[in-house]
Amino acid sequence: MTGFGAPSIAPAGAPARFAGLELLATAVLLVGPDIAVRYANPAAENLLELSLKSLQRSRLPELFANGAELSALCAQALAHQYADLRQDLSLQRPGREPLHVISSVSALGEGGELLIELRENVQQLKLDREERILDQSQANKELIRNMAHEIKNPLGGIRGAAQLLELELPPHHLLELSEYTQVIIKEADRLQTLVDRLLAPHRKPHIVGDVNIHEVCERVRSLILAEFPTGLTIRRDYDASIPEFRGDMEQLIQVVLNIAHNAAQALKLRIAAGDAEIVLRTRVARQVTLAKVRYGLALDLHIIDNGPGIAPEIRDRIFYPLVSGREGGSGLGLTLAQTFVQQHLGVIECESRPGLTDFRILLPLP
Ligand SMILES: Nc1ncnc2c1ncn2[C@@H]1O[C@H](COP(=O)(O)OP(=O)(O)OP(=O)(O)O)[C@@H](O)[C@H]1O
Ligand SMILES: [Mg+2]
Repeated sequence: MTGFGAPSIAPAGAPARFAGLELLATAVLLVGPDIAVRYANPAAENLLELSLKSLQRSRLPELFANGAELSALCAQALAHQYADLRQDLSLQRPGREPLHVISSVSALGEGGELLIELRENVQQLKLDREERILDQSQANKELIRNMAHEIKNPLGGIRGAAQLLELELPPHHLLELSEYTQVIIKEADRLQTLVDRLLAPHRKPHIVGDVNIHEVCERVRSLILAEFPTGLTIRRDYDASIPEFRGDMEQLIQVVLNIAHNAAQALKLRIAAGDAEIVLRTRVARQVTLAKVRYGLALDLHIIDNGPGIAPEIRDRIFYPLVSGREGGSGLGLTLAQTFVQQHLGVIECESRPGLTDFRILLPLP
């Protein structure tokens, strides 16, 4: 910013003086010693969602609930005439998302003017979004669990009543009327199985031992190959240096099995053609943030298939319970997988396009 013009106090918005700033993609504001806005470039208007005119009517810190931080930064820059004072700020705006920015404030010579640059803090935005998704998925699961409980309670009663009713049916109408009671009993049983599956992940104890991820992969490989003996290749691409870690082996088998099973089901046409492939790939990842916590080392497991890809209309929702794109699917396999991975403090992600679907599991390693 040293090339910026002389600190003469020009009338606000003087075009010649600010011409260069108009083109910048970074938000830049010029404020007077009273921190009243004298000029804001179009990028700043965009970022703050306010026009130049309304910005020029305000003192900058007054636009934010926590503007004091920005005021202090300006005062510091004014007092010490720093060439460039940088700080990460989360600017709170009433009724809107906070604005995460990296700010830098420079004093412009003797006139008491300050040049403020605001750049969006993309990393913070991403973390915020991930946190919101995590909260949302936890709230969803809780809702489903509570509903499942509510459904489960009266089911036993409904089924029992239908059985009693069946015993009381007049013998000469037994055959035709028992068809109805059988419908009630069968449907009650079907619902029972569904709610049991919904509640299952929260019932089973989490049994922790030393887990070798390749043992998990091998178990899944043989289970899938037993079900799909021809037309499907399961390729191993293992990094043998991955250390054992503490976890629940049975749960992790269930996770990889659910994902690989989906892949095998999606590969139906290629299995028939004989060129279906699933790859189990293990790697080590370094310096990753999983569910808000930073780890030096993590397991990076991929389950990749060369099938048709996930149908676009459900792609954003596949981890939600009861979302299925498959005839007869209950839409619980991936929800269960995600719950188990989260219980291991990990995350599960998916990328998919026709010909390549990649489920990625990241788990902290010791
Ligand atoms: N590898 C994949 N390729 C294409 N589509 C997939 C793949 N994995 C998942 N899907 C889609 O995501 C949906 C949700 O999967 P999920 O395992 O949660 O439920 P489901 O397989 O339908 O039923 P369930 O596993 O409970 O028997 C699937 O129905 C399928 O449409
Ligand atoms: Mg499934």
